[in-house]
Amino acid sequence: MSTNREPIGVIGTGYVGLVTAAGFAELGNEVYCVDIDSEKIEGLKNGQIPIWEPGLEELIAKHRDRLHFSTNLSDALEHARLLFVAVGTPPTYSGDADLSAVNAVVDAMPPSDQHALVMKSTVPVGTGETIKRVFREQGKAGFRYVSCPEFLKEGSAIKDFLEPDRVVVGDDGDWAGDAVVELYAPLGAELVRTDIKSAEMVKLASNAFLATKISFINEIANVCEETGADVVEVAKGMGLDNRIGPKFLQAGIGFGGSCFPKDVTALKQLAGNSGYHFQLLNSVIEVNELQKRRVIAKLEKHLGKLVDKKIALLGLAFKPNTDDMREASSLVLSSRLQAAGAHVRAYDPVAEEEARKLIRGVSFKSTALDAIEGADAVVLVTEWPEFAELDLVEVKNAMAGDLLVDGRNLFDPGQVRDAGLLYEGVGRAS
Ligand code: UGA
Repeated sequence: MSTNREPIGVIGTGYVGLVTAAGFAELGNEVYCVDIDSEKIEGLKNGQIPIWEPGLEELIAKHRDRLHFSTNLSDALEHARLLFVAVGTPPTYSGDADLSAVNAVVDAMPPSDQHALVMKSTVPVGTGETIKRVFREQGKAGFRYVSCPEFLKEGSAIKDFLEPDRVVVGDDGDWAGDAVVELYAPLGAELVRTDIKSAEMVKLASNAFLATKISFINEIANVCEETGADVVEVAKGMGLDNRIGPKFLQAGIGFGGSCFPKDVTALKQLAGNSGYHFQLLNSVIEVNELQKRRVIAKLEKHLGKLVDKKIALLGLAFKPNTDDMREASSLVLSSRLQAAGAHVRAYDPVAEEEARKLIRGVSFKSTALDAIEGADAVVLVTEWPEFAELDLVEVKNAMAGDLLVDGRNLFDPGQVRDAGLLYEGVGRAS
């Protein structure tokens, strides 16, 4: 790897910040990570990684010498020209993005004509222009600004960083944009270099489009249930058209996570605030909410009233290979089930600790079979690979009832039925 790569700063050591830092360290850069959370920084200095992401701990350990952690912004400013901003932009009550952490970073910058902010956080279109104006007002007109949205997925974040489909750089055609392009050059990815607003929009539009694809296939699944078609076959047939593509056509009980729900709402709000009613996105969100609730209807179809019924949830995280519980379908599901009077027990291979912070009244078990024991119905919520390995006859024998609701179409319906269980998938003949 090249030895003359330029040092960079990363502000914010959350998901995106840590993966960006570890990824650039792998490419040979010295990386100066800054966070206001001193406990987190102390932990990171001792090799403690605050999130669960396959391969991240190892990569950070491998590049210990290149990764520097500090609560002091001047450490990054002293060593690096490019400061990647990876702080949170959570939704406010209105659904707009909360930019207070981003604004705090902007305010903390000193006047300089040798530094640039490189925005990784997902922000509304127009944020870059606002920040440039604030820089001018604060007498920091020399500070450069680059939008460089991140497209990594939790669970495969390192691979997504090192093998991106594209790198998007939005800038004013100055040294900072050139330097960011240079940083990513070894990855050999397709480059889209554009203006700042368009780069900001690429990020929001990509997430909104992927979420639309999911809500679309979920609605097709619901029609399949009415008509007897099988959505898995339908998605296969559709996905082979390369204008459509096979990815993000897996029907299920809705999308969750820290990005899709937030970004779809933020884009809808952004459009509304600019005077445009983005009709399609309203439906994408509504379909997603209704999709989570259809599980309850499927349980009631077979069990009648759910009062005192024992329901086992397999998986709690918003998707496999993460402990992230943000906007997970399991949150809505567990509270609806308890509201209906059911007794809920749950198992997740890694998300239990996070889940305990958000879910009340659920009995957490340490294995899938513990959760299943004596259950009237089992609901597969998150498609962790270990659930695909379950011995379905053992599952049937452990249960009091015989209903398996497969919220992610993980199982082969025939095999489930052969084990003596009733099968309810999403968009599959029951
Ligand atoms: C998503 C995008 O895929 C990334 O490109 C983006 O960088 C990221 O948001 C972000 O903005 O930070 P992520 O939220 O990690 O990544 O997870 P995805 O793999 O996209 O899954 C999101 C949700 O959609 C999950 O709940 C998943 O179960 C669901 N999903 C996904 C489906 O229901 N069906 C599918 O076919 C695919």
